[in-house]
Amino acid sequence: MYISTPFSDVIDRATGTLASPDNVYQRRLGQMAGMYEDAEAVRAALDAGDPVIYRVYEKKIPELAGELQWCMSVTLPGKIGREYYMTKGHYHEVRDTAEIYLCVGGTGYMLMETEDGQTSAVEMREDVALYVPARWAHRSINTGRVPLISFCVYPGNAGHDYGTIETEGFLKRIVEIDGKPTIIDNPRER
Ligand code: PA5
Ligand code: NI
Repeated sequence: MYISTPFSDVIDRATGTLASPDNVYQRRLGQMAGMYEDAEAVRAALDAGDPVIYRVYEKKIPELAGELQWCMSVTLPGKIGREYYMTKGHYHEVRDTAEIYLCVGGTGYMLMETEDGQTSAVEMREDVALYVPARWAHRSINTGRVPLISFCVYPGNAGHDYGTIETEGFLKRIVEIDGKPTIIDNPRER
């Protein structure tokens, strides 16, 4: 039987960083270029220096069903064309695993959908606690001017499945129209 030892860490709510993360990664536009609708705007942003879109600060937890992974997810403010900076988004590899997000700063949306075509977009702002049920793909989208920061907790064995989202995208996009975040359809072949 595996027995963890207790530990804690300290969250910086202003930056979204953990004091002692075990793993930190960032994604630049170039690693998710095909996910944005406006190919010309993507090219211009890549030419201008390939911006960082988001960062994740993780603790290392055993990948076991009874354990809980936790991390800080920080999506930076910005747009590619009219589309806001966003995470890649994923299903959990083990589909029957849910996730909790606690937003500690910034404003935006969690865009979610199921494989049978249900969609949901929940507004995120400081102190919103969100439950992402099992079987819902999820993507953070920053519609504000400061980093969108959330504390995330999910089962140790959940894993990330980017496959279908990488190839097909989400059913919806969130773009700025007349200065406002607007949810539009993302026409795609299913
Ligand atoms: O577990 C989660 O849902 C988050 O920690 C995400 O992994 C994080 O926000 C990065 O997004 P993605 O994994 O879609 O690149
Ligand atoms: Ni997740």
